[in-house]
Amino acid sequence: MDYKEKLAAALAPLAGLPAGELKDMLETPPDPAMGDFALPCFKLARTMKKAPPAIAQELQQSLSLPSGIGRSEVKGGYLNFFLNQSSFAADILTAVAKAGADYGSSSKGEGKTIVLDYSSVNIAKPFHIGHLSTTAIGNSLYRIYSFLGYHCVGVNHLGDWGTQFGKLIAAYKHWGSREEIEKKSIHGLLELYVRFHEEAKKDPALDDEGRAWFKKIEDGDAEALEIFGWFKEITLKEVGKVYDLLGVKFDSYAGESFYNDKMQPVIDELREKNMLELSDGAYVVRLDEDNLPPCIILKSDGTTLYATRDLAAAFYRKKTYDFDKCLYVVAYQQNLHFKQLFKVIEKMGYPWAKDMIHVNFGMVSLQDGTLSTREGRVVFLEDVLHQAMDKTLRVINEKNPELPDKEAVAREVGVGAVVFSALSNSRIKDIVFDLDRVLNFDGETGPYVQYTHARAMSVLRKAGDGAESAPDYSALEGEQALAVLKNLAAFPDIVEKACEKNEPSVVTRHMIDLAQSFNKFYYDIRIIDEDAAATAARLELCRATAQVLKTGLYLIGVGAPDRM
Ligand code: ARG
Repeated sequence: MDYKEKLAAALAPLAGLPAGELKDMLETPPDPAMGDFALPCFKLARTMKKAPPAIAQELQQSLSLPSGIGRSEVKGGYLNFFLNQSSFAADILTAVAKAGADYGSSSKGEGKTIVLDYSSVNIAKPFHIGHLSTTAIGNSLYRIYSFLGYHCVGVNHLGDWGTQFGKLIAAYKHWGSREEIEKKSIHGLLELYVRFHEEAKKDPALDDEGRAWFKKIEDGDAEALEIFGWFKEITLKEVGKVYDLLGVKFDSYAGESFYNDKMQPVIDELREKNMLELSDGAYVVRLDEDNLPPCIILKSDGTTLYATRDLAAAFYRKKTYDFDKCLYVVAYQQNLHFKQLFKVIEKMGYPWAKDMIHVNFGMVSLQDGTLSTREGRVVFLEDVLHQAMDKTLRVINEKNPELPDKEAVAREVGVGAVVFSALSNSRIKDIVFDLDRVLNFDGETGPYVQYTHARAMSVLRKAGDGAESAPDYSALEGEQALAVLKNLAAFPDIVEKACEKNEPSVVTRHMIDLAQSFNKFYYDIRIIDEDAAATAARLELCRATAQVLKTGLYLIGVGAPDRM
């Protein structure tokens, strides 16, 4: 139901430009009095050799308006188009009803593969509030790309390599017990880690022990591997709980250690291509020409680095998945790392280096108060999610104690609120997380949008499922309905834009717009009245709104309960 596309196709032969170009030229005026779509004719002056107002006039005379467009008007150098509201309503609502949950989806990405590297937690480290963004953005992009027909591969590039794991084993050997760790899970590992650093300040020999244990892991020592494998299991069990709450899944958990035996061929290739240089005993790839510091490939003791593993991972992914794009959803603190990584691959002569994209994002910090980090205590994401659920449950018990499935609703609303807030602003912005604000039903929040969905569902329930009459779409000619219809019509473009920019907030913002326009319609207009045909049209608007809200929320990883 793309009116811009229809208009562009009709205008193309008259303006002598490709339809695609005209579609891009068509604007949506901020003030509907200036038309629903407007064609600025200034750019056409050169090819059509006339003044813009004359061009607008000429186009208006020769154009036969596509269906759904009621009239056009020349205003200066602009040709403005106005929708015929009732046929517009009929077009949109029929399209949404026909497509159902698929409205807005496409097969654009068919045959193409997108690898998404997101969440990528570190073993034996807490899954804290800082991981919210990568997990929420990655999960949403996974859903958006899939919705547009791409084949997606979600990778959790586990941080499961490094000397810190040797230290952790040393600490466990000194002060740990299996029962206690089993009981305290990741918190127990964290305690060991903290204790190691305290004690190592007094007794530097501990660091050597740590290094020795790490060497054992590297050499494949059975005991070291067993303990490390167990740490990994504990961590994954713990983060698995958060992933379950969030509804997040991965297709692969191939992390840093997975590349132990996959780095040598890359290092050899760098050497063959004369790209490795010795610098203070370390082997580096110089990136001076690109104004970047050198990328270190091997340390002077011969050990590999984070970058070396990422290099091997990139080649492995290209070979295994033949991706069209590989997205790294990682905080902007790693901007330099990814610039270097992509540059090295480009310099090795691989054109697909341009298909690797760092989808970076800002920091999450906490408002002072209940959630603040006490004395270095980290704020676990799981705790935040539980707080959000508990708070929501209290509100439900207060306001709507009869609600069925209260726990399930509290979970969808509480967790949804946290995710929604993480995806509310363009990802590069730093955010201050404030639980009260994200749970506010009246703000631009998840609960507000979810509540709007539940409200539309409740209208539909009230109307019952008796046979509706044929809808009279002229009942939807007011400005309130028009605003909703436009938001419904824009949804497919919104999803595409979110995908192009790797920016889930485009969908989030649109959900707020759609909810606000629907609520205005709901307050101003009586939906169910004696006029059965008009009622049927208004109910169709409710149904379509509920559908698009549900789909949009799904695409950002948020649930849409039918009642709340
Ligand atoms: N584990 C890393 C961290 O917490 C993120 C890994 C991102 N992915 C990658 N391929 N480097 O900083």
